[in-house]
Amino acid sequence: MAVAAGIDLEHAHAAIQAAIEAGEPSALRVLGYGEMTLVVGWPADAPAWALKRLPPFAGEARLEAYRGLLGEYLGALAARGIAVAPTEFAALPGPGGTHVGYLVQPLAPPGRMLDAFLREAPEPAGRAALAAVVATVMQGVDERVALDGQIPNWLLGADGVPQLVDVSTPMMRDAAGRDRLDAELFAAVYPWVVRGVLKRWVAPAVLAGYHDPRTNLTDAAANLLRQNLDRWVPVLLEEAAAAGGERAPTADEVRRYHRNDTLLWGTNERLRRAERRWRRRRGEAYPMLLAPPGAIRPKRVREWR
Ligand SMILES: Nc1ncnc2c1ncn2[C@@H]1O[C@H](COP(=O)(O)OP(=O)(O)O)[C@@H](O)[C@H]1O
Ligand SMILES: [Mg+2]
Repeated sequence: MAVAAGIDLEHAHAAIQAAIEAGEPSALRVLGYGEMTLVVGWPADAPAWALKRLPPFAGEARLEAYRGLLGEYLGALAARGIAVAPTEFAALPGPGGTHVGYLVQPLAPPGRMLDAFLREAPEPAGRAALAAVVATVMQGVDERVALDGQIPNWLLGADGVPQLVDVSTPMMRDAAGRDRLDAELFAAVYPWVVRGVLKRWVAPAVLAGYHDPRTNLTDAAANLLRQNLDRWVPVLLEEAAAAGGERAPTADEVRRYHRNDTLLWGTNERLRRAERRWRRRRGEAYPMLLAPPGAIRPKRVREWR
């Protein structure tokens, strides 16, 4: 591994595994609790890397399929001219004969993740960054390839170009329009009774949203509300209108989307907690850490309406 040659991934893996078994972050420096990944800054005392742990793969074939798809995805983004943070993939043996995959990236410098940047940025600098994200989403997203345009998924490079950090969900479809991502990966952390519905209906619907530039930008704008970055919503909408005309979301769409999204996230959280309780009662480990209450849905400070 070139980028990640300097890190002791086995040590990190052991620390992360121990925290997951304990069911709490312990000494880890958690940067994000995602739908798919747990993101930690490593080493914890002076982080230089972002390590993104995927849920365990049940067998080597699944792991290799993911590795291949991720490689194709990074290639497809590069071919579309989309800047991506340097990313490497490595896998280590996990519990019960599974394989655990990690995406490894250099840690963003302080204040350079786009959500942190927007918290402090003057209007022109923030507008320029949002315009670049809008342009990237419109150029990168179509029926075959998608990316998640939400603001916390971008690192602002020294050249002012936003780099995508969130590539752990390689959103690609085959020529027949079928999603290539293994939906089992999402579904495995939910209660058994909902897994079929998640794989057959929910995952394809959620992925379809990212393949559509308008829905993608609606999602990004609604996410600004979730992050209490309300002042940037009109800016994002203006830049989307300037770049995309018909393909730009409206303020009403954003409000409606935000309401539904809030309900959906609450449900996700409750389902995952229920599954964790169930497994613990049976003496089984839950394979990921869940965000503490409030981390997924920070309290709203109302500004924009
Ligand atoms: N390279 C990085 N440097 C610093 N922070 C990062 C980096 N990559 C991710 N993060 C933090 O972790 C969060 C989740 O990472 P992301 O790759 O978006 O995974 P997820 O699929 O869970 O959303 C990001 O929103 C960001 O706050
Ligand atoms: Mg993300």
